[in-house]
Amino acid sequence: MNAPDRPIQIVPSVLPANFARLGDECAALEEAGVDRIQWDVMDGVFVPNLTFGPDVIAACRSHANVMFEAHLMVVNPDPMLGAYVDAGCEMLIVHAESVTHLHRTLSRVQELGARPAVAINPSTSVEAVAHVLDLVDMVLVMTVNPGFGGQAYISTMEPKINALRQLIDASGSEGAGGNGVDIEVDGGISADTIEGAAAAGANVLVSGSALFRYDEGLAHGVADLRCRAEAAAAAAASQTFNS
Ligand code: DX5
Repeated sequence: MNAPDRPIQIVPSVLPANFARLGDECAALEEAGVDRIQWDVMDGVFVPNLTFGPDVIAACRSHANVMFEAHLMVVNPDPMLGAYVDAGCEMLIVHAESVTHLHRTLSRVQELGARPAVAINPSTSVEAVAHVLDLVDMVLVMTVNPGFGGQAYISTMEPKINALRQLIDASGSEGAGGNGVDIEVDGGISADTIEGAAAAGANVLVSGSALFRYDEGLAHGVADLRCRAEAAAAAAASQTFNS
């Protein structure tokens, strides 16, 4: 099932980008037509890998105008929330598993003037976010175990995406910003997997390695992924309508 009124958005992860030219890579992604850029922040504790912090993101901010979102795969994100906002991230994605008081953390993100979002790992139930839907603009359903790009898509997350869409719709929540709640997926999203995720109810799709692997270039990849996701979402919505 899909919420047909929620537009498909294609979001690259910078993880596969050339870290020696991150600013130029952000400009190229914007030029390729992405809807925003995701920064995979990893602390080597919440996930095994270690990537970058707010200073690296801030250095790239002036190279692109598209929205930046910070995917905070870190333990205890609260002390640094303001630094990611100051670095130019309009959306902060906090993992439900990484904080003791998720309701308070998401409220703090909004107080800082950023758009709050919450992520759940593959083993975490959608119930973990049932009581904070009014505090977020988006829920990220991880379709890999976080920490590395290039992993295999976990297709058993599709029923979970579907259940989350139903939970959001049944809650009647308009989200933190009053424009409803998007569902994002992240991990293993490619031409082969994006249709399943979109048909299940995801409307924001993060792609890293698959997008950067397109021989025809980033713009072709963004367009191909968008076309596939839009077609799958429309077919799913039509099937639901006719059922
Ligand atoms: C995992 C990361 C990756 C990355 C995208 O912690 O969050 O999912 O964004 O990786 P790909 O698209 O290469 O699987």
